[in-house]
Amino acid sequence: MSDAKEKGDGTKVVTAGRREEWTQGIVSPPVWRASTILYDSVAELRARGARDTHHRLFYGRRGTPTQWSLAEALTELEPGAEATLLYPSGVAAIASALLAVLHPGDELLLVDSTYDPTRNLANGLLKRFGIHTTYYDPLIGAGIADLVTERTRAIFLESPGSLTFEVQDIPAIVGVAKEKGLVTFLDNTWATPLLLPAIEMGIDYSILAATKYVGGHSDVMLGSVTAAKGRYDALRATTYQLGQTASADDAWLGARGLRTMAVRLKQHGESALKIARWLKEQPEVARVLHPALPDCPGHEIFLRDFKGGSGLFSFVLAGGDDTARAALIDGLAHFGIGYSWGGFESLAIPIDPDRYRSATKWEAEGPAVRLQIGLEDADDLIADLEAGLARFREARG
Ligand SMILES: Cc1ncc(COP(=O)(O)O)c(C=O)c1O
Repeated sequence: MSDAKEKGDGTKVVTAGRREEWTQGIVSPPVWRASTILYDSVAELRARGARDTHHRLFYGRRGTPTQWSLAEALTELEPGAEATLLYPSGVAAIASALLAVLHPGDELLLVDSTYDPTRNLANGLLKRFGIHTTYYDPLIGAGIADLVTERTRAIFLESPGSLTFEVQDIPAIVGVAKEKGLVTFLDNTWATPLLLPAIEMGIDYSILAATKYVGGHSDVMLGSVTAAKGRYDALRATTYQLGQTASADDAWLGARGLRTMAVRLKQHGESALKIARWLKEQPEVARVLHPALPDCPGHEIFLRDFKGGSGLFSFVLAGGDDTARAALIDGLAHFGIGYSWGGFESLAIPIDPDRYRSATKWEAEGPAVRLQIGLEDADDLIADLEAGLARFREARG
């Protein structure tokens, strides 16, 4: 589709999807809001419906140049991809991709460290429609072959896991999937295609909660699924049947965020690593779960496969209880307490991964905290955490 491979990341995110026919000379494609599209005649209305509606105005749910532009930009970031569709949230993107592939009676292999709502989807809606889920150890690698039965249809990966950050051996799992004819999905929200080109690595559906790094400003809900060659038609058919669509306003916010994603990711990554290394030296901290540090399961794989890290990681406290952990988090000045991540502002939340596991066991030296490192000065964040660890120490006794 493009020469995106030869361009640098900054150039890619700045230029991608800005077709002149969509921008009309304006730098960013404007917001084309639409439900009704008007036709000149009955004959034209009928003819338009009979033709391929891809990138043609037809009816609002099929999008306008605003959505097409962001979708095309995301496709250009994934060398080897066929096309991308947008969704009103990351969870909607995950659900649509899974429903595009799975049938009643199928079995899904789902990584045990996955984002909790993905688990809820598997244990709720998918189960209700007769799809069985088997959870697997994120570190299973090629050993996943042992879990494949004749009912297995697909493997869902999330790497690293967004609470506990285990890094999966994607090439090994993709190798098994290809050998056995299984479809692969990757929740690539943490790395984005800039740090992990999923489709090039053989993944069939690369999924983003674009709410996070694509949006980048904590003001939009958006998801995307990018399909490998030959995988798009099934995704499009199911997405249309489900009536899934992202609004032009939200797509515009996503595209606006995307233009700065490469520089933001670099800064998130750099600050997160600095803070993770600092935390590692603190006596109140038992372990830092950042893929770039050796404490993190799958660290070697991270070094082999990823181009860098982003801004989200966790750490485990040395002893203490929920109250001591709350003392740390509650008094933080620069970290908000709230869900989501990928925005310009730092966040801290308590995490209790043992509640979201079935194939593996979470064992820790104390309670854990997840940090989203924003674009504030890293030294200010470190000073804030230093004071937080002092509060923790006092409360722990
Ligand atoms: C790893 C991961 N995937 C998917 C999602 C879901 O995205 P959304 O909140 O846009 O539905 C999230 C949200 O936190 C996430 O952390």
